[in-house]
Amino acid sequence: MVLPVYVYGMSVLRKVAPEIPENYKGLDQLIEDLYDTMRASDGIGLAAPQVGKSLRIFVVDTTPISEDKGDPALKDFKKVFINPYILKEWGDSWSFEEGCLSLPNIREEVSRPSQIRIEYYDEHWNLIEEEYDGIRARVIQHEYDHLDGKLFVDHINPIRRKLLSSRLNAISRGRIDNDYKIVFPKK
Ligand code: NI
Repeated sequence: MVLPVYVYGMSVLRKVAPEIPENYKGLDQLIEDLYDTMRASDGIGLAAPQVGKSLRIFVVDTTPISEDKGDPALKDFKKVFINPYILKEWGDSWSFEEGCLSLPNIREEVSRPSQIRIEYYDEHWNLIEEEYDGIRARVIQHEYDHLDGKLFVDHINPIRRKLLSSRLNAISRGRIDNDYKIVFPKK
């Protein structure tokens, strides 16, 4: 089921999300809803807080950008990360233009370390440990931030951020033109 996306200004996006218990009943449905919502809004990643659920889970699917970026590693990079933990980040920091379904129509260059080692559970509760670099690492770092109440605009310099403030305010008032359903703070 496609769910509305919570945008900038909603408090759930600023919470540190708790882990999902292994007996969590709605897990399969939540995973399906995350994939459906990500696809419907043309995203390449979506974290549960973005659909109003404060839980440590996100999905990614970079297939739609693999041709554009000329990176075969992005094709079929589609998976769910449950209770993930980034064990290590290293490598040269590099800039990449990020966007976010919770910050419609805003794109900014963000600098992050190039490599990560992450531990997480898959949908069958197998514990997995992997290393990623390049755009795959970047997408994971961005989604992982959502579980800790962080947004990509937190990583840009204060001057750039100040320039964005009126657009961020407009988003939190729902004054945006986007083609997917959103939830914004009520007055
Ligand atoms: Ni995001």
